[in-house]
Amino acid sequence: MAVTIAPFGRTAAGEEVLAGRIENAAGMAVTVLSYGATVQSIQVPDRTGGLRDVALGYDTLAEYEANDGYLGATVGRVGNRIGGARFWLNGQEYPLAKNDGENHLHGGVRGFDKYVWDMAAGADSLICSRVSPDGEEGYPGALTVTVTFTVTADSALVIDYAARSDRDTVVNLTNHTYFNLSGGGSALDHELRLSARRFCENDGGCLPTGRLLDVTGTAFDFRESKPLGRDIGAAEEQLRLAGGYDHCFALEGGPAAVLYSPASGIEMTVETDMPGVQVYTANFLTPRPGKGGAVMGQRDAVCLETQLFPNAMNCWGFPSPVLRAGKPLSSRTAYRFAVR
Ligand code: BGC
Repeated sequence: MAVTIAPFGRTAAGEEVLAGRIENAAGMAVTVLSYGATVQSIQVPDRTGGLRDVALGYDTLAEYEANDGYLGATVGRVGNRIGGARFWLNGQEYPLAKNDGENHLHGGVRGFDKYVWDMAAGADSLICSRVSPDGEEGYPGALTVTVTFTVTADSALVIDYAARSDRDTVVNLTNHTYFNLSGGGSALDHELRLSARRFCENDGGCLPTGRLLDVTGTAFDFRESKPLGRDIGAAEEQLRLAGGYDHCFALEGGPAAVLYSPASGIEMTVETDMPGVQVYTANFLTPRPGKGGAVMGQRDAVCLETQLFPNAMNCWGFPSPVLRAGKPLSSRTAYRFAVR
């Protein structure tokens, strides 16, 4: 295992940003930027042994700063949406930054993805940390967050999230990597399997209503592996509202997801201790140049964002994102790569 950290660039505000790289003996290499604790690239061998970069991203820091889409970023304090950009906790109302119409998305105007984190090297990992101050984007409590990216000998990227707050708060951390297991082009041929019989119903703003719908007989049934593109154009209200898949599935145990590219032979298995995974087919990714100048756009990737169900503070019965003062939060998601 080789772990190195090198300068990547400076933000417009003059802060130094680092790029850490972890490589295992099988040739898998992951690059993480201290800007947004962002996964910039994941290189894995395909079925011929050639390396493919299976994560969308940019070559320069300026592009990360200028563009939307959260490519590869750590999102928080609360990833995904909070309806009405407000929540109640301990009898008090907390208004949050509105950055998605009337709602709050991915931590607000300046979420965790837009900060420079501290970065340190471990034996087989990169450890990113930052303190989100009390009141940031409207959230109560100073929150100390550590996100550790580890590459294992058997070619998994493991992401460990740890956090602690000095006041009661809400937390829902995830990673926003756009996966393309072919290394580019459309991801609609990728075959996806999910261990989920139910998913969160969305309203017109991709905000969960609080109801869980059964996937049986719908385009949302991924219990048997099928290409992402097979049913994405089906005449179903939930697909129409989101312009594709942009929904949180309720996980049931076993691997959360298995994604496979027939073109490269690369298979990725996702394991998590989170109750949900947001499946997002890059519906809002406007065409733009990425690494090496290759154009990427809508449907050219799929995000598998493991998390608590979105809008949980406004939906009775959803697992709670409340983190009590002084209590440790810890969560793990692993993305394991293989070929077949
Ligand atoms: C959300 C999308 C949103 C996107 C932004 C995803 O996690 O589900 O609705 O547009 O992030 O890149």
